[in-house]
Amino acid sequence: MLFIACESSCDDTDIALFDSDKNKVIASESFSQISLHASFGGVIPDKASESHLSIIDHLYLSLLKKVELTNEMIDCFAATVTPGLSSALLIGSNFMKAIAWDLKKPFIGVNHLLGHVYSVCIDQEVQFPYLCLSASGGHTSLYYVKNFYELFLLGKTADDAVGEAFDKIAHFIGLPYPGGPSIERLAREWQGNDEYQFPRLKNNDCNFSFSGLKTAVIYAMVERKRYELKKKSWLIPLSHEEKISIAYSFLEAVSDILVKKMLSGLYEAERMSLPKVRSIAFVGGVARNERIKFSLREVAHHHGLYFFSSSSNYCMDNAAMIAFYASKMYEHDAKNIIDAGYSVPISPN
Ligand code: KG4
Ligand code: ZN
Repeated sequence: MLFIACESSCDDTDIALFDSDKNKVIASESFSQISLHASFGGVIPDKASESHLSIIDHLYLSLLKKVELTNEMIDCFAATVTPGLSSALLIGSNFMKAIAWDLKKPFIGVNHLLGHVYSVCIDQEVQFPYLCLSASGGHTSLYYVKNFYELFLLGKTADDAVGEAFDKIAHFIGLPYPGGPSIERLAREWQGNDEYQFPRLKNNDCNFSFSGLKTAVIYAMVERKRYELKKKSWLIPLSHEEKISIAYSFLEAVSDILVKKMLSGLYEAERMSLPKVRSIAFVGGVARNERIKFSLREVAHHHGLYFFSSSSNYCMDNAAMIAFYASKMYEHDAKNIIDAGYSVPISPN
């Protein structure tokens, strides 16, 4: 069966086609709004939805042309329906819904977070159950994933998402958006020690918090009389050397926190007597970070577990993960989906 999906929950408009018989992503077309939002240091919702609206039909038509298919040959239409910027979500989901209903084909609304959690399974055989750290600009959560339809939320962030912390700190020290890749690139240049020793979370539960870490970076600059908090301005601009040291210390702190939470997750799954975890998975935009991936792979090896992270095409927001999970929802509930013409939403928490 052919599933076509749209992802428009934030700053990427992406359309992908998944063939469930071949278990393969056939093609995708995308447009990234990074340059549109770069000067603001974050995503501006109105600009994001205007951009989705202006590009979505071109992407859809160009994908069909590329694979030499017509609308009628698609079996099922899908889109991200939640969570995300509502004005942006509406564009992708209404676009797909309109085509589906016109053709009397089913429409499947997919939860973005589930898309990320199972993105790791698109092109590799992951051993279930797995502990999944899903980390992006909008969310940071730890799940125990039993199978494609059962998962438990073990913990989530109380404030900033980890990608958001990367973006904010990058903006603060004058690096381009998105902050994660900028900080990772810079941190690689640092040859010294962890100069700043930013605080690590002390609690042993599975919940995250990154606003304290963000504040610690700002206060380190205030204490060194480099930054004035009241005026929100730099007293003396940072040198390149100072930026790479901050980037390095920040990344070390984030990496340690994520390792600690993964260990708490393993402990929690055992304490709850859940079937034994076989793998550790790392998904979401932050899963592109090689430093963090290295640390989490070490945790897996140390505990005799498999380690998986989403392939780099499927880490950031993408429609392939939405089409893939739509196919799993269909597999699970085909009769009801066909009868109703649409799916009952599934939420991970
Ligand atoms: O999954 P995603 O595309 O969108 C959301 O659902 O939010 O993730 C985007 C986030 C941004 O915050 C970006 O800074 C972060 O992923 N990111 C990274 C890296 N590449 C992207 N964070 C750390 N290291 C990276 N290499
Ligand atoms: Zn995402």
